[in-house]
Amino acid sequence: MTRVNENYAKLPGSYLFSGIAKKVAAFQAAHPETEIIRLGIGDVTQPLAPAILKAMHQAVDEMGHAETFRGYAPEQGYLFLRDVIAREDFQKRGCDISADEIFISDGAKCDAGNIQELFSLDSVAAVCDPVYPVYLDSNVMAGRTGQYHEDTGKFDGVVYLPCTEANGFLPELPKEPADLIYLCFPNNPTGEAIKKEDLQIWVDYANQNGSVLLFDAAYEAYITEDGIPHSIYECEGAKTCAIELRSFSKKAGFTGTRLGFTVVPKELIRGNASLNAMWARRQGSKYNGAPYIIQRAGEAVYSPEGSRQVEEQIGRYLFNAKTIREGLAAAGYTVYGGVNSPYIWMKTPGNMKSWEFFDHLLENAGIVGTPGAGFGPSGEGFFRLTAFGTYENSLKALERIKKL
Ligand code: MLT
Repeated sequence: MTRVNENYAKLPGSYLFSGIAKKVAAFQAAHPETEIIRLGIGDVTQPLAPAILKAMHQAVDEMGHAETFRGYAPEQGYLFLRDVIAREDFQKRGCDISADEIFISDGAKCDAGNIQELFSLDSVAAVCDPVYPVYLDSNVMAGRTGQYHEDTGKFDGVVYLPCTEANGFLPELPKEPADLIYLCFPNNPTGEAIKKEDLQIWVDYANQNGSVLLFDAAYEAYITEDGIPHSIYECEGAKTCAIELRSFSKKAGFTGTRLGFTVVPKELIRGNASLNAMWARRQGSKYNGAPYIIQRAGEAVYSPEGSRQVEEQIGRYLFNAKTIREGLAAAGYTVYGGVNSPYIWMKTPGNMKSWEFFDHLLENAGIVGTPGAGFGPSGEGFFRLTAFGTYENSLKALERIKKL
């Protein structure tokens, strides 16, 4: 008799955003007259920029001619894309990252779930609380955690790093040993960013303790302030302790198109093993790369036209964030994030539980957000709104919340 992976049974309910989508669909079916404003899942709404589309069209045409047709993509990704990433995202910021340390993929969410395969099952994972659920879920599925406790909202065997108002949503160093430390800055869901000197503390800690930092920089394109690192490799010594995850989803609207990459430095060695060689081996066997057409689209993001168009889109999302953040603050709400990030992290009014506020907002204002408790126990009492809607919808949502 085949036995299933029983670790899946430890996971509570459905994936956060799938659960919310079902709730919203049920509400819409019962209230077809309500015009719902969706500020829940962090999904982009602006169409792909013209320079990206042009590159995609050209690549599609190439695929239709024998001379320019491409079959399997190289397992690490095409060099034309890895080269431009190494130069524009890293070397121009003073980070010594080369094309052979970059691995193209079908998105950071997949990489965030897959990267834990490189580590032994007895590795202890440390996650921020609240946290983007994928880091935790993938470690649960792999069997790296104990049971889930409904009363605390925590799994045994995981080191939780609370991010609260008291610590400015910046986690403190783990008090217990941790092997894999997941950090995401600018942060999802709190929207808060980390200064370079504060990130350096984590790099020093990881180097001293032999931990590996899994640094999710999916939102780096939203950084507006000086002194906030775009990459962990801006910190000294990061190449011996950190893997970085990057995404084109929020940077250039690729949530549906799918494109991302991991950076696994050649200096990152644990035991006798090179993690760069291990990840290359993994990508060779299992592959979660991206098609030629999409990699050409990614290359166009770095062209002068493409980067200008993408920056304009990001500017529009950031303007939504500012509008929501300042509007809510003026209406007396306590709000965080939204300056270097497309997420606004608001305190629920009157100490309302976050799922209670979710229902309240949906039923009385027709607005979908994400309850903080869905991201972990320290998210209770908070609520995430995204700035990925249109400006009109952001304004409309604000007006509806003010009237509650
Ligand atoms: C989010 O809304 O936090 C994510 O981007 C959605 C996801 O990747 O599941």
